[in-house]
Amino acid sequence: MTVHTTDPGARTEALADALQVDGHLTSPRLRDALHAAPRHLFAPTRGWYAADGPGPRRGIDRDTDPSGWWDAVYSDGSIVTQVDDGAGDPARGVAEATSSLSSPGVVVAFLELLRVRPGDRLLEIGTGTGWTAALLAALGAYVTTVEVDAGLAATARETLAMAGFDPHVITADGTFGAPDHAPFDGVHVTCGVDRVPYSWVEQTRPGGRLVLPWMPEYGGGHKALLTVTGDGRASGRLVGGANYMILRGQRSTLRIPDDITDAEATVTHLDPGEVTGSHGADVAITAALPDVMGAPRIRDGVIELELADTAATSWARVRQGDGEHQVWQAGPRRLWDEVAGAYMRWVEWGRPDQAAFGMTVGPDRQVAWRDEPSNIITP
Ligand SMILES: C[S@@+](CC[C@H](N)C(=O)[O-])C[C@H]1O[C@@H](n2cnc3c(N)ncnc32)[C@H](O)[C@@H]1O
Repeated sequence: MTVHTTDPGARTEALADALQVDGHLTSPRLRDALHAAPRHLFAPTRGWYAADGPGPRRGIDRDTDPSGWWDAVYSDGSIVTQVDDGAGDPARGVAEATSSLSSPGVVVAFLELLRVRPGDRLLEIGTGTGWTAALLAALGAYVTTVEVDAGLAATARETLAMAGFDPHVITADGTFGAPDHAPFDGVHVTCGVDRVPYSWVEQTRPGGRLVLPWMPEYGGGHKALLTVTGDGRASGRLVGGANYMILRGQRSTLRIPDDITDAEATVTHLDPGEVTGSHGADVAITAALPDVMGAPRIRDGVIELELADTAATSWARVRQGDGEHQVWQAGPRRLWDEVAGAYMRWVEWGRPDQAAFGMTVGPDRQVAWRDEPSNIITP
């Protein structure tokens, strides 16, 4: 439903109703928090709006198109506020997004998982606009939030103060947490991580929760809900999909050469569209091959799976055909063969879905598991 008004209360109520219908919002306290921290206060004057899922993607500008701006701000989409670490214009939608006001649906879903109680001491990684920090504060938490970008942190500090919130906003690399403010009852990570920094576990009390977008090198991202155990680890399940911009310090780029004539060319009967079609398969593959990057692309209307190892020694491309699919592989490793092997193991397990998997983060390593924490599938 579109609400033709600039009344933030009516806008927020309509957004909360939509989030409830979509299953993201269940808690009345969270609905109240959405009212206490109205989203428009944290939205940039100009930015790039992308609906969550299929839907419009467009530049928004409060000065030139106020009603388009209000509609975007109070709907379930993200608004890119910074590109190329501040070097470009976010409203053009053509560069690498490096900060955003996250989609309400995913923000609310993470907050539901975190189960914030009044008086909790919480750490947020990735302040961005400050909206999530404001929601956490509105839920009654004492919030410490860390932002790597000094300009974004300064703007968030101002916005939060103007909106009536007073969290500690620290300008620093969130990889190290906020040791001076620990211990925390929970950590809310709002940028994607492949390897979960152990400092976040160390700085959380036993029984405390970590919610984070786990974004491994291969496939899609996953919401992870981890609980800190008495023995200094954090463990828990994957609870849905999530797509966030990656923590600075863990960014990587998958590049396949344009000229593939020197690669070994073969064919396969395993459809790359089938291999890339499930979050469960994604987890099984990345757990077995944590150093393999992979993403499906659509080229000329056809699915192509591109793979490369993080050490940049090898790559592969698999192009969907009609029953028979073309494969190109180069370098010392045969990455498609490795991915196909991991995929077939997932098929042999009975094709478990995402919810069957979890992860444990300890001082020495991070592992993925299937069904039970003891059933580790990371080699
Ligand atoms: C999706 S935005 C966060 C959205 C934000 N929570 C909000 O409510 O608007 C991700 C943020 O993480 C920040 N970030 C990326 N790497 C970081 C790091 N190593 N330490 C702290 N912040 C980081 C980015 O600069 C960006 O502002």
